[in-house]
Amino acid sequence: MRLAVPRFPFFVAVALAVAGCISVRADDARLEQSRTLVESFGESLQIELKGALADGGPTHAITVCKDRAPQIASELSRTSGAKVSRTSLRYRNPANAPEPWQSGALRDFEARADAPLEYFDVGKDGSARYLRAIPTGGVCLACHGAAVADEVQGRLEADYPHDLALGYALGDMRGAFSVTWPPTAGVPER
Ligand code: HEC
Repeated sequence: MRLAVPRFPFFVAVALAVAGCISVRADDARLEQSRTLVESFGESLQIELKGALADGGPTHAITVCKDRAPQIASELSRTSGAKVSRTSLRYRNPANAPEPWQSGALRDFEARADAPLEYFDVGKDGSARYLRAIPTGGVCLACHGAAVADEVQGRLEADYPHDLALGYALGDMRGAFSVTWPPTAGVPER
C-alpha cells in the first residue's frame, strides 16, 4: 500500500543480472501499467485499512490485510491480465513468500541507501515482471511494529503461527507489490 510518505523518485533497478533476462526497457508500456496497478492496489488498501482502523481498531482491521488484500489483488489481476500480489522477505502469510527473483530484488532494494524502489525486467519469452517496495508507515505499526497490542498479537498468533512480519520500524521496507505479465503473444518461447 502506498503510504503517507513522499512519493519516491522512480529509479528502475537494472536487472541484467537476472537469469533469463535479455532486455530492460524502461519504455515498455507494461512498466507504466504496473505502476498504475500497484498505485491503485496501495490506495485501495490504504483507504480500507484506515476506515477499518477507525471503525474497530487493529483487531478488526486485520481482515482488511487478510481478506481484502488478496481480493483486491485478484480483481486487479482479472482486469489487467497481469498477476498482482504482495510479498516480503519477512512475510506474515507463507502464501506471500517471495519467489527467487522477488527475494533477489528485495535484497537489492534493502542493500541500497538511495533506495531504488522499483524493479522491472523483460524475459526472453516476452514476459515482464515488476516489483515496488512498500515502506512501513505509522499506520502499519499496529500490526507490524515492535510493540503490538496483546489483543492484536493474540489474533495474529492464532492466524499466523509462523509470522515473520513483526518488529518493523517506521520507514523500514515492509515488502513489495509485485506485478507479473505473461509472455507476449507472438514472441516465441525458448
Ligand atoms: C490491522 C493489522 C494490519 C495493519 C494495520 C497492517 N497490516 Fe499488513 N498484514 C496484516 C496481516 C494480517 C497480513 C497477512 C495477510 C495475508 O494473510 O495475506 C499482512 C500482510 C502484509 C503484507 C504481505 C506480506 C506478508 O507479510 O504476508 C504486506 C506487504 C503488508 N502487510 C504491508 C503492510 C503495510 C505497508 C501496512 C501499513 C500501511 C500494513 N501492512 C498494515 C495485518 C496488518
